Amino acid sequence: MDPLKICLVSSEVAPFAKTGGLADVTAALARHLHKKKHDVRLVMPFYRRLRGQYDFTPLAQLQDIPVRLGARTYHFSVSTAKLPKSKLDVYFVRCPDLYDREGIYTQDEDEHLRFALLSRAALDMCQWTQWAPDIVHCNDWHTALMPLYLKTLYAWDKLFARTRTVLTIHNIGYQGVVGSDKLGELGLESEKRFLYQEDLDEGRVNFLKTGILYAHALTTVSVTYAREIQGDELGMGLDALLRKRSDSLFGIVNGVDYDEWNPKSDKLIPHRFNERDLRGKEANKQALCEKFGLEFDARAPLIGVVSRLTAQKGFELLPDILPVLLHRDDVRLVVLGNGEERYENYFNWLAGAFPKKVAFQAGFDNPLAHWIEAASDMFLMPSRYEPCGLNQMYSLRYGTVPIVRRTGGLADTVAPWNAQTREGTGFLFDEFTPEALLEAVRRALAAWRDDGAWSQLMQNGMARDFSWEHQVDEYIALYRKLVPAH
Ligand code: ADP
Ligand code: GLC
Repeated sequence: MDPLKICLVSSEVAPFAKTGGLADVTAALARHLHKKKHDVRLVMPFYRRLRGQYDFTPLAQLQDIPVRLGARTYHFSVSTAKLPKSKLDVYFVRCPDLYDREGIYTQDEDEHLRFALLSRAALDMCQWTQWAPDIVHCNDWHTALMPLYLKTLYAWDKLFARTRTVLTIHNIGYQGVVGSDKLGELGLESEKRFLYQEDLDEGRVNFLKTGILYAHALTTVSVTYAREIQGDELGMGLDALLRKRSDSLFGIVNGVDYDEWNPKSDKLIPHRFNERDLRGKEANKQALCEKFGLEFDARAPLIGVVSRLTAQKGFELLPDILPVLLHRDDVRLVVLGNGEERYENYFNWLAGAFPKKVAFQAGFDNPLAHWIEAASDMFLMPSRYEPCGLNQMYSLRYGTVPIVRRTGGLADTVAPWNAQTREGTGFLFDEFTPEALLEAVRRALAAWRDDGAWSQLMQNGMARDFSWEHQVDEYIALYRKLVPAH
């Protein structure tokens, strides 16, 4: 079969710009599509943090291209750099007016324009290079206007006559809602009839909702989350619309990039190990405890957390149980997290109250994330909701037993431990309450004290395979279904 031309557009791509799993997923998906010989163009912004990093090559034919966004004309240029561990070129949209800022995301007034420009630039790039994509694959709210742009501003161009669109929802909690006074800037002033009328009446435009209306296919990152977002509890206001589009909504569980996350070959951890020889795991634990000044005891389990610190991740459940648990049980806790101050304050307080048992590091630190995965005995993800979650899958590969809430991708990837049959890979709880979480932690601690059970749990987890080799085929099958026959 002919290779597909796929234009994949994202606000984050690892390792260039990452705040969470979106970056890992777009990089791995592009890498694996390319490996299967598809013609992929992966497009992202050139953020300030990329200056002086990597080896960028400007594309001569894509310099200083004007894009009109309302009254203002922005200019963008494109450079490429190789995606690490691949021969694939990543396309970086340079527009210093919009991207030369401190963070990947900002609270600035023109945040919507930063990603409207990315969406427009990706399509303009196709035009300037006369490259007709079979698939435009957009991700989350940032690029969710692309299907509507194709239906309106670009509808005249035959280049896109056969183009089909896929929108992947990585997180429905972020929808990109702006005032309808921004329609002009978005280039959609004369396209009002295509927008969701009730929102317009209330003075709003919702990027993600617009994408849900117009993408040919919608995907989300686990089978359970695909079902959950069609209900009012987790649909976050978009459930009715998603139910209407349920025939075009597919759950495809994220894969893991085992080139990056593999205890046998991980260069970011002090001691490598494998399922037959776990001595390196204990050495990592001891070294991590030493680094943070924690009291090391092989018999005391180390619980790890690596997370964005937001309400989604369920840390509200912790204050009611952790102090008592830490007081009564001989456990250690290491937390790496980046995000809202209230959670940082809490973990700082906890580390101060239990200096020999708890360590907290604020900020984003990829090598430390790997080390915590490798060193911990248990990994905690009490998420309120979790579209997929990658850390639980990384944990399994590192022999670290996940304790997770049964929601979204966590429900799809962690199998409950059954002490009788000795099957399962982790511990799950249902109710979003401190009691339910505590009960799951207690079950984990009971298994920890039973050597045979714990070894089996670790082996079960390490044997699971969530590699992209399989998951990429699900995306390819979907793309093929959408692309019209010649
Ligand atoms: P989400 O995308 O909701 O943040 P995921 O579990 O899908 O959750 O992905 C999180 C990714 O981001 C993982 O690769 C994890 O290791 C990484 N990560 C999260 N917080 C940090 C941090 N503070 N430092 C380093 N890596 C982090
Ligand atoms: C989102 C979700 C997370 C998912 C990631 C990648 O940020 O919160 O669950 O794994 O996207 O799809």
